[in-house]
Amino acid sequence: MSRYTRRVALVTGANRGLGLEISRQLADRDIAVVMAAREEDKGRRAVAGLAGEGRDIHFLQLDVTELPRILQAVDFIWRRFGRLDILVNNAGIMPDKGIKASVLTAERLTQTLVTNVYGPLLLAQACLPLMREGGYGRIVNLSSRLGSLTEMAAPDSPLDGVDAPAYRLSKTALNAVTTLLARDTRGENILINSACPGWVRTNLGGPRAPLSVEQGADTPVWLATLPPDGPHGGFFQDRTPIDW
Ligand SMILES: NC(=O)c1ccc[n+]([C@@H]2O[C@H](COP(=O)([O-])OP(=O)(O)OC[C@H]3O[C@@H](n4cnc5c(N)ncnc54)[C@H](OP(=O)(O)O)[C@@H]3O)[C@@H](O)[C@H]2O)c1
Repeated sequence: MSRYTRRVALVTGANRGLGLEISRQLADRDIAVVMAAREEDKGRRAVAGLAGEGRDIHFLQLDVTELPRILQAVDFIWRRFGRLDILVNNAGIMPDKGIKASVLTAERLTQTLVTNVYGPLLLAQACLPLMREGGYGRIVNLSSRLGSLTEMAAPDSPLDGVDAPAYRLSKTALNAVTTLLARDTRGENILINSACPGWVRTNLGGPRAPLSVEQGADTPVWLATLPPDGPHGGFFQDRTPIDW
């Protein structure tokens, strides 16, 4: 199998918001970007919007909750490119804003965990063999300070008023995925980290958020392109470690 000459990145939920901007910034660093989206028309429109200006962009249909499809999707990348260097687990949902943990339904919790935790874990598992084959890997999990246990336990935290229990729990679990996978890959040139982009103006973040998508994408893109001596198994915002 011939091996693609450029590094190849897979970004989930790439049709809008942070995923779209992360894809743009990676492509502008001469990385081939596979932009995954669950809806084909939205994904193809996003790809068309970024294509040109020398960017090497590709489309992949992937709903991260369709767990059996995940292996197929990664297999497609292997057959098409012969490599996979970077995974950005960006796709995420927050369907429980304003709901108290005491009344959270199992259905909403399950939907959130499957999207925000199971999908990213299974994707990382599927990508690791390709990364090991290439002797290089960077995995970035788009987490949130809302998932920090330190913030949750502090009544004086500026985030104390935010009710989104399934979302917060899912990001705590996603951070655990980061640390556990980092344990499994110690000593390899595969660096796995969680990123909080800050509060960003997107569908999820809403219009009152202070940061632009360009600003929010900075830390995830930095972690996706770390040098070999970069951090491993950490949680970062503004390129700085933050509390779990
Ligand atoms: N914005 C913030 O302030 C903020 C802060 C901290 C962390 N984050 C994290 O950053 C990531 C991106 O968020 P965002 O602000 O860019 O949100 P967004 O604008 O709502 O975009 C979310 C993306 O995820 C996709 N998605 C949702 N469920 C999916 C599924 N089952 N399969 C595949 N794709 C799916 C959406 O696709 P559709 O268009 O098809 O719905 C969309 O492309 C999330 O993980 C979020 O938790 C955001």
